[in-house]
Amino acid sequence: MSVDQINIEHLPQHIGKSVTLKGWVSNKREGKGIAFIVLRDGTGYCQCVVTGDNSGLEQLETAQSTSLETSVIIQGLVKSDEKQIGGVEVEVSEITLVGNSVDYPISKKEHGVEFLMDKRHLWLRSSRQWAIMRIRNTIIFSIHKYFQEQGFVQMDAPIFTGNACEGTSTLFETDFYGAPAYLSQSGQLYGEAMAMAMGKIYTFGPTFRAEKSKTRRHLSEFWMIEPEMAFYDIFQNMDTIEGMLQAVVKDVLKQCKPELEQIGRDTEALESSLKAFPRMTYDEAVAIIKGEKTVNGKRSIDLLEEDLKNAENRLTEIDAEIKDREEQIAAGGMKKGQINFFTNKINQLKQEKADVEEDLRNIPQWLSSAKNFEYGNDFGGSDETVLTKLFDCPVMVYDWPHEVKAFYLKRNPEDTRFARGVDVLAPEGYGEIVGGGERETNVEQLVEKIKEHELPMEAFEWYLDLRRYGSVPHSGFGLGLERVVAWVCKLKHVREAIPFPRMYGRLTP
Ligand code: 4AD
Ligand code: MG
Repeated sequence: MSVDQINIEHLPQHIGKSVTLKGWVSNKREGKGIAFIVLRDGTGYCQCVVTGDNSGLEQLETAQSTSLETSVIIQGLVKSDEKQIGGVEVEVSEITLVGNSVDYPISKKEHGVEFLMDKRHLWLRSSRQWAIMRIRNTIIFSIHKYFQEQGFVQMDAPIFTGNACEGTSTLFETDFYGAPAYLSQSGQLYGEAMAMAMGKIYTFGPTFRAEKSKTRRHLSEFWMIEPEMAFYDIFQNMDTIEGMLQAVVKDVLKQCKPELEQIGRDTEALESSLKAFPRMTYDEAVAIIKGEKTVNGKRSIDLLEEDLKNAENRLTEIDAEIKDREEQIAAGGMKKGQINFFTNKINQLKQEKADVEEDLRNIPQWLSSAKNFEYGNDFGGSDETVLTKLFDCPVMVYDWPHEVKAFYLKRNPEDTRFARGVDVLAPEGYGEIVGGGERETNVEQLVEKIKEHELPMEAFEWYLDLRRYGSVPHSGFGLGLERVVAWVCKLKHVREAIPFPRMYGRLTP
């Protein structure tokens, strides 16, 4: 009998029918005369039941012979079952092995993150990574949809470049037919040229930064979306950033419910980002960081001190609970199931303890860098954390001291100490997810800045041409895809936001 091959995500539309599923065993439990396989096919998960009675002994033996990640083809009857994932269960009539999987290295037990990164090619199959990649996919599609609907043209900037865009310190040098070339840090300068041809464009491509920093925000290779708009000023730029980020959050909330649930993401925190993002100048942001200005009656410094106290109390609680549970296990007389439950709980507590200890190390540093912040400096990660603590949605900081920002930013005509850059900082400690601004159109000003930044003038002649022939006010920004994925999914590190991360100390797999 030939039956339709379908995706697991579509099973609820096939209740009462026989179907064919093709996928991998992601979990298996066995009882007397029965085996339960949780099958995954990339579109979802479903429980498949194999019994000696319904499926026949031969099928039961085949099911029993499978192990984690064995690939199989299953035929069976779809039944409604509210208790199961996806609200369905498949009663198996036939199971066929496709590929064996002996001693799959990733088990249910806790693995260290370095081990998992070494096994990234397999780790991608696990449910949490699957959910993150599905959300990443939704974000990518949502960004394209937003710009296409707004009449932007997608264009690609080159990856081999002859000059730096974001400063020379983070360039990856490579060989281009015997001449030095650099992997692109940003497509922006080309984006500006393309905007003068097309009006509104966006690039979507990989960018490279040779940053020898092992932070949770830095990748050496990341994907950047860079829109550039002719005749837009910095305020229209901010409207576009807000519109795009809100479209992304809305689409993820609407289309990724199972994935968000799978990773345990608090969706209320995301819903908060659907209101207007606060916009403030650098000066206002600095006053907030230093605790000189309150937000809704709250001071940054007070909040941090409160967090510190809470973390200290929580640490005492965790230690007491771990001790108590360990003593209960040691006292004996517990059933195996209960010991497992207690051990799992202890492991969870230890995980939380590590996080709280990290907070206890970080908060005093944040406090001291907030109190001692020197006016005129760029924000570091800790300044961003302090500032965003007071908000539950992204905030936009604009008009930065021109000395700390890129050469191409336009000066505020009303106060030339400031450049019309804008950084968007995400809440919950994520910090900068977007950087952009209005571009300088004055050739003399640009020439002066290029010299000041010690960039090779001849490499920028073509860029200056954009100002020589029909120059117009224009703006744009760059959105770091992995930073956004990390924030939307509330990941601890951007390395989980990209299939195969490239970062300082990691080139394989
Ligand atoms: O702020 P950045 O350096 O801005 C630019 O490159 C501009 N040329 C963009 C433009 O206006 N067209 O980078 C933009 C964004 C950051 O806000 C951050 O989200 C991300 O790119 N980003 C990184 N993401 C991961 N790892 C890194 N090392 C990153 N560096 C920047
Ligand atoms: Mg930046």
